[in-house]
Amino acid sequence: MEPLIVANWKENKTIQDSVVWVNQTRADLEKTDQVEVVVCPSFTSLPSLATLLQGSPVKVGAQTVSDQTEGAFTGEVSAKMLKGLVTHCIIGHSERRRHYGEREEQVGKKVENLVNEGIIPILCISDLEQLDNYLASNQSFKEHSEKIVFVYEPPSAISGGGDFHPESPEEASKNAGLISEKIGQKVMTLYGGSVSEADVDLFLKQEFLQGVLVGKASLEPAEFVALVKKASTAVI
Ligand code: PGA
Repeated sequence: MEPLIVANWKENKTIQDSVVWVNQTRADLEKTDQVEVVVCPSFTSLPSLATLLQGSPVKVGAQTVSDQTEGAFTGEVSAKMLKGLVTHCIIGHSERRRHYGEREEQVGKKVENLVNEGIIPILCISDLEQLDNYLASNQSFKEHSEKIVFVYEPPSAISGGGDFHPESPEEASKNAGLISEKIGQKVMTLYGGSVSEADVDLFLKQEFLQGVLVGKASLEPAEFVALVKKASTAVI
């Protein structure tokens, strides 16, 4: 299976910035066909990128979704609204939990809503204790585990975080392997946290890692293209 590289732009880039980024990276990303790339911009840029990348192997994802299906939920965007625009959607990111108070049961509902619309959830797990809480509070992770891309992403490894401690590729792989163990079957697991061109290949060579979630190093077109090219060297 091709490794998956997910670009998480977070709260960065206007529509125009996003289009410029795609125009500057597209040819190189499409040439690097040993890896699969998903770009996750803000909601505002989704329609433009979905149109620009129609028919391209480079996919488009969202960064969050509503835990509701529709109705009086001001500001929310449902999975049904995302259908047709995205193939993937990041959920449960530690920044959403920390800054916006997202809880286990909401993330569980997001999994259900996305799966029902045929969108692949990219589910971030900060640590194994959190996964235990998820598993105790809802069944959707186990039920849909084959349709979910799990991401092991310790908050302390995310670039720009206060208590900064990136994990080694070996440590990250070991913890990612424990996610499959707790789910009860082998699940697709990525690693996230300050991955860069310098170490992406080391993460991708690990037994229990099938890709990476990249924040800061995905923002500059040249830096991200270099990372993706380096990632392709890890594929045997
Ligand atoms: P980072 O972000 O690569 O900048 O550490 C990763 C993430 O938070 O998804």
